[in-house]
Amino acid sequence: MVFPSQVTLVEVGPRDGLQNEAQPVASAIKIDLVHRLQAAGLREIEVTSFVSPKWVPQMADNAEVMAGIARRGGVRYSVLTPNLKGLEAALPCKPDEIVVFGAASEAFSQRNINCGIEESIERFRPVVALAHEHGIKVRGAVSCALGCPYQGEVSADEVERVVRLMKGIGVDHCGIADTIGVGTPRRAQAALERALKHYPLAEVSGHFHDTYGQALANIYACLELGVATFDASVAGLGGCPYAKGATGNVATEDVLFMLRGLGIETGIDLDALVDAAKFISDALGRKPVSRSANALLAKRAAA
Ligand code: HMG
Ligand code: MG
Repeated sequence: MVFPSQVTLVEVGPRDGLQNEAQPVASAIKIDLVHRLQAAGLREIEVTSFVSPKWVPQMADNAEVMAGIARRGGVRYSVLTPNLKGLEAALPCKPDEIVVFGAASEAFSQRNINCGIEESIERFRPVVALAHEHGIKVRGAVSCALGCPYQGEVSADEVERVVRLMKGIGVDHCGIADTIGVGTPRRAQAALERALKHYPLAEVSGHFHDTYGQALANIYACLELGVATFDASVAGLGGCPYAKGATGNVATEDVLFMLRGLGIETGIDLDALVDAAKFISDALGRKPVSRSANALLAKRAAA
């Protein structure tokens, strides 16, 4: 077992975190959040998604948010693009990376992007090709890899099927996602091992929602495989509008606290990250979900 000495955290708070908020969040707040995240040292930030505003109204200001960001060198800004229409709208905003999102479950694919798995791959194919023509890297997300709110159990074979299909159309990176947070460590390993059969270690990541409190344990289990890229969401924001009851991603602060304890480098400043968590939580009128953020904020208040 060789733990990675460095880990990349992909901050998905502005997108996965905020997409599910019922109340509109002003574009200026979203932009400010991205600025605070990059100031804290995050080098990969998922900013927004170019999806139908009828499906996800919170992301309707995608172009405005992308235009408002004062970009930092060395930071990669990504956006979700489920189809050509989404990519064509995103291109003028010059994303560094795009994300196509499929699912290991037919039922979730239908509910989330209104088509089955095979058809989703056919929709992604020209998206991947056009992104590559523009020199843009493509990440693929495999949702419901550890369980589905509609289908229930999802097997590792079902995960590998989608991984193979994504690889076949040229997707550069494979993210295995536990959309509803039901996965446990050995199952997480089994799913990521299937991705590792088709993608190199550097191009496989884990995306764990923390609905059942398993996300940190799942990340630890994936570190045991050598996986060194994980999505996380500041303040533990988020959920998927098409996976009712699913809570946010694992909080970036909690992952960072664990990685620091393990002596793993991330380049992220925990205090500045907690400031970002407080900023967005105040803007939303609630406390962070992150245990670490709350503990550190309580410690600050007591000092
Ligand atoms: P559709 O209805 O099949 O699309 O939706 P369509 O091509 O038939 O078009 C229907 C209408 O949508 C048309 O407008 C299109 O112009 C418009 P109308 O003529 O009715 O006015 N449209 C678009 N508008 C803006 N941007 C676009 C776009 N495409 C079509 N890109 C579609 C298909 C994928 C668009 C729809 O199902 C959709 O937007 N779904 C949103 C799904 C979503 O954002 N889910 C949350 C993100 S995924 C997630 O959170 C999981 C993840 O975190 C990993 C994990 O945890 O599992 C990544
Ligand atoms: Mg997600």
